[in-house]
Amino acid sequence: MKRNIEDTLNEMQPELLKALKNIGIYQPHPRLPSDWFQWQIAERQMILNYAEIASGTNILEIGCGGQAITTIPLAASVGEKGRVIAVDRGRWHDFWKLIGTSGLKNRVIPLQEDARKLPFPYSCFDLVVCVHGIRSFDNHQAIADAVKEMLRVTKERIFLAESSPIARNLAQKAHITMYNLRSPMFLALGIDYSTAGDIPYLSRRELVKIVKKAGATRVETRLIEVNMPHHLAWFPLSMIEKIRDKKTRGDMKEKWKKAVKMLDKYGEEHPPVIVVNAWKKQS
Ligand SMILES: C[S@@+](CC[C@H](N)C(=O)[O-])C[C@H]1O[C@@H](n2cnc3c(N)ncnc32)[C@H](O)[C@@H]1O
Repeated sequence: MKRNIEDTLNEMQPELLKALKNIGIYQPHPRLPSDWFQWQIAERQMILNYAEIASGTNILEIGCGGQAITTIPLAASVGEKGRVIAVDRGRWHDFWKLIGTSGLKNRVIPLQEDARKLPFPYSCFDLVVCVHGIRSFDNHQAIADAVKEMLRVTKERIFLAESSPIARNLAQKAHITMYNLRSPMFLALGIDYSTAGDIPYLSRRELVKIVKKAGATRVETRLIEVNMPHHLAWFPLSMIEKIRDKKTRGDMKEKWKKAVKMLDKYGEEHPPVIVVNAWKKQS
């Protein structure tokens, strides 16, 4: 059943709601509705409920991204005595503006590093988290290398969450159809794929295989139906116009137009999300 934003915000933990109120309307692109950021934060909070985060926790967040969408609910969850070390290899955009106005900045330490080679010599984090970041790694090997590092620096457990490639309805299908155009578009443009990201969503089986390959000894997964709108698959036609090869440009244009038609007709909904709790071998 579809949720509405008022009920969703009413269910939110008070500190997170306060942070959202402090931020106010954040609309970096006119295509985004005024409540898109609230929806995204609500989805992250819902997913993080499966991470079982206690107040006072010391968390390493991998792939925080330039809008702190997971960092903000993480910072609200850890309380005044907890900390979130937010790692990204380079996309910071509005991160500090948003963290600053949220009122939670004293709990967040940003760090620019590659998750495949983390600068921590010991297992020093209560929990290592990566939410909707898997899609931005270069390929499956890069995910495995990063997960191996996450397991190395956590004391016991890591938590991963990523959208699944499953569409339960046409609004989810519209999202996946548009999302799946992103990586071929970046490739056709010759943009460095490793920084552009957006590999196809992994199945639950693929994700578990990677996490086990990275060394986890116990892996628990769930598929979560979030029933919330999504807003982030779309990209402008002007990007496709820049593709040099005429045939590829024409093909991509057709696919883009079909995908936009689907978005306009059915709306865009979050596909079910795979959540993973994985444990390292205890020495
Ligand atoms: C989809 S974005 C942001 C996800 C964000 N956690 C959220 O909830 O919206 C994923 C981020 O992962 C980062 N990333 C990709 N590969 C990385 C790597 N090897 N090390 C660190 N960050 C990486 C990208 O720069 C990008 O900002």
